[in-house]
Amino acid sequence: MAWRKNCDSMITTPIYYINGDPHIGHAYASIAADIIVRFKRLDGEKVHFSTGTDEHGIKVARSAENAGIGVREFSDQASQKFREMSSAVNLTDHDFIRTTEERHRKSAQAFWKLLENDIYKGAYSGWYSARDEEYVTAEDVVDGKSPSGATVEWMEEESFFFRLSAYQNRLLEHYEKYPEFIAPISRRNEVIAFVKSGLKDLSISRNKFDWGIPVPDSEGHIMYVWIDALVNYITSLGFPNDLRRVSEAMSNCIHIVGKEILRFHAVYWPAFLMSAGITLPKRIFAHGWWTRDGQKMSKSVGNVVDPFAMITEYGLDPLRYFLFREIRFGEDGDFSETTLRKRISYDLANDLGNLVQRVLAFIQKLGGSLTVNYDFSIKEKELYALSRNLVERMRPLIEKQNLHGALDCAWELIAESNKFVSDMKPWELAKTDVARLNCVLTALCESIRAISFGLAPFMPDTTRKIFDFMNVDGKSFTEVERDFTNQRCNPPVPLFPREK
Ligand code: MSP
Repeated sequence: MAWRKNCDSMITTPIYYINGDPHIGHAYASIAADIIVRFKRLDGEKVHFSTGTDEHGIKVARSAENAGIGVREFSDQASQKFREMSSAVNLTDHDFIRTTEERHRKSAQAFWKLLENDIYKGAYSGWYSARDEEYVTAEDVVDGKSPSGATVEWMEEESFFFRLSAYQNRLLEHYEKYPEFIAPISRRNEVIAFVKSGLKDLSISRNKFDWGIPVPDSEGHIMYVWIDALVNYITSLGFPNDLRRVSEAMSNCIHIVGKEILRFHAVYWPAFLMSAGITLPKRIFAHGWWTRDGQKMSKSVGNVVDPFAMITEYGLDPLRYFLFREIRFGEDGDFSETTLRKRISYDLANDLGNLVQRVLAFIQKLGGSLTVNYDFSIKEKELYALSRNLVERMRPLIEKQNLHGALDCAWELIAESNKFVSDMKPWELAKTDVARLNCVLTALCESIRAISFGLAPFMPDTTRKIFDFMNVDGKSFTEVERDFTNQRCNPPVPLFPREK
């Protein structure tokens, strides 16, 4: 895996709990990271991409018990479903990491040792929410439930603590010095307010159950599942080997996480890394949550959207498109199949599909290739210029994880191109002026090619088809700069058939 040994940057998804089946929220986080990775790779960057499963903790141990099978067997089966999800949503080359792997046990134990100056032994008693794998303060418990609605239970145990309180100022300084560290900005403000309100030391081990990574040299204690989980990112980079490389990759790493786990990533994880002397990630982006028909998705309500079923019903690329077009990345949104169908019909079939179909079918009528003379009128020049810098316009947006903004740019060009077709009326030029027709179609080919590059990270299968129609390699953005000379095109087939 060359991209692991030699990478310029890193993008991560959360590693998913395995006590339930993959749902659309997991697919969402994975696809988001995938889009960013694909964009960067098309741009020539070597990106290390990691995802995987978070398999330890009391919740998983209990789920295995309920299923009546051993916890290892349970984990193997459950993790496999997430691997299948990764391939169903078409994640590009990545490392799939399981916290039950040997490489991770070694890594987590080595990491623990680096924290030892900040670790002390004490006793913990308090309310614990197994569902959130988190202690809840007494003030936050109402009617036996945590703020997230999970049942809490009283826990008393001997525990190791991490001196989180000692990191309050250093964390605040870091947020101040690197304003881009936490995004979106509203979430950054929440984190800062949380840290300013005071940090308590963190209980980081358990001794009431044993489904976890043993604390080094401390029999009976296992690591708190969140330490174990966060370390996955550096395990994936090869920690504890080659510390310098780990730090280098981390300094250019973006963690994509759901908003509910931002605190773990923006407070605990940086404090651990500071203590361990490892470079902090460049940025943590917290995305919003999908609800269904206005309600939180949950197994008990039975309203969870199944990504596999959605892909079967609507196709993968339409789903990938919808998830990032429908809501701004970073905000919450409601999942509705009616809207998904509309998006497929209007945006994909009408706007994009028709454009490609019309232009390429026309070229077929001219024998499958164009005679390029670049004797462009101002209109063609305008479209040409807009096409030429589409990727340039998208790049800074992708850099800020503004995925909907990047899609907007591509759709502006699609709209301009469709308008250009209506204005230039190629069907009339075919009768009156074939030289001009060639110019018009050349400009359109350029715009379709640019659109395909811009959309390739979002809809890789669809754009691959377009590249194939046009005999374009499509493997690097640098190709966007090449001239479109005497290109042969193949007959197109509809990209988004209307009815199945
Ligand atoms: N195991 C932890 C993460 C450890 S990372 C070091 C965990 N797992 S999880 O399976 O509960 O959820 C992980 C992520 O899935 C969320 O942070 C979010 O990215 C995504 N989503 C889960 N449900 C979601 C929605 N309903 N909507 C959007 N994304 C959500 O927390």
